[in-house]
Amino acid sequence: MCHDAAFLFVADGRSVLHGNDARLTAAQARRAKHLAGDRLDVMALQASGASWHPICYEYPAAEMAELSASKRMSKLRSVQRLVRQTAPELAVPFAGPPCFLDAEVARLNWVLDQKDGAFCDPEVATDWLREHLPAQHFDHFKPGDSLDLDTGEIVRDPVSAGFTFADAARDPYLERYAADRAPHIAGVFAENPEPGPGLFDRFAAHFEYLGGLSDYFLRQIAMLVRFEVTGPHGGTWDVRLSPDGVSVGEAAPDARPHYRITTAGRWVESVLSGRMAWEDLLISFRLSLYRDPDVYNDHLVGLLKHANAPALQAVEAYETERDWSERITVEWDGGRYDIPRYCPHAGEDLAVGAIVRDGRVHCLAHNFSFDLATGVCVNARAANLTSRRIG
Ligand code: FES
Repeated sequence: MCHDAAFLFVADGRSVLHGNDARLTAAQARRAKHLAGDRLDVMALQASGASWHPICYEYPAAEMAELSASKRMSKLRSVQRLVRQTAPELAVPFAGPPCFLDAEVARLNWVLDQKDGAFCDPEVATDWLREHLPAQHFDHFKPGDSLDLDTGEIVRDPVSAGFTFADAARDPYLERYAADRAPHIAGVFAENPEPGPGLFDRFAAHFEYLGGLSDYFLRQIAMLVRFEVTGPHGGTWDVRLSPDGVSVGEAAPDARPHYRITTAGRWVESVLSGRMAWEDLLISFRLSLYRDPDVYNDHLVGLLKHANAPALQAVEAYETERDWSERITVEWDGGRYDIPRYCPHAGEDLAVGAIVRDGRVHCLAHNFSFDLATGVCVNARAANLTSRRIG
């Protein structure tokens, strides 16, 4: 289930906090526990994210390995931190990893590698968490397993018990699974046919429409995005988003794009015709991306994702009307720094939702990192942290 919200169930004196896909902060998790009568019987947490970064990016192998390892680790650490601060009776690493059954994306199944993949499976996550929080009770579940909240007894489903994420078992399993799902995958292709003539004109009209939705987003994006659209009626097209508006044209050979997005025309056509949202395309991983400089632009993704004026206005209001007056002090390498309490990105409470390491404040909500000396966000385009050394 993908819902972007946590659920707290309390019944008959038992409580379950379902935090999968919810980006719960430690403060929210503690509050949920308090609401449940200061006891959580089960807390399910997302130990494996579902994100196209770095998986769909065109990184050299060594950089991809490094980014994947850091993605795994930051997810595990954030689960560890939430569990440590919430102390449920039983913590359950949940979700992921994805697997890819369609030949177009089957190359991405390397992300399942138990040691080097970008996503952690529940077996690996449970082992890691048990090792790092030995006093805490962890377990993971498979389809059909049941847990008795009164006795703590777990009954394992006999069919699911035969399944393992282990590397050696993976390829034959995926082959069988892909064969089983082949008719459904063929159905997806049938529902999203190759585009007809005039794809460029529809593409240009779409971005001109998006560009008219929010001047604020255009100012924040201010970049050239190149689309390489493969297949019939495709081409290489530049979308320039700037405070002056949006212009779309054939790629200019001497222009250097900040983002390059490569995908098949059939998926672009589906977005343009409203069968699919940009976010669906991104999360389908049926595209590859490159960016230079390698800095995330939250507003570009936000514009594609929300694509309607009221939602963009709500984001603008949130970002421009925030109260920056509340400040906290953090320490690094013998120095003391004054920083705002709330993250400049989306308002995570940095007093509990950040770690300070290597001279940077790492916000754990979406992993933006801010240099303490300058306040600059080093891995995304975001407002300055306005940090100040005070001792
Ligand atoms: S709130 Fe998103 S990185 Fe801090």
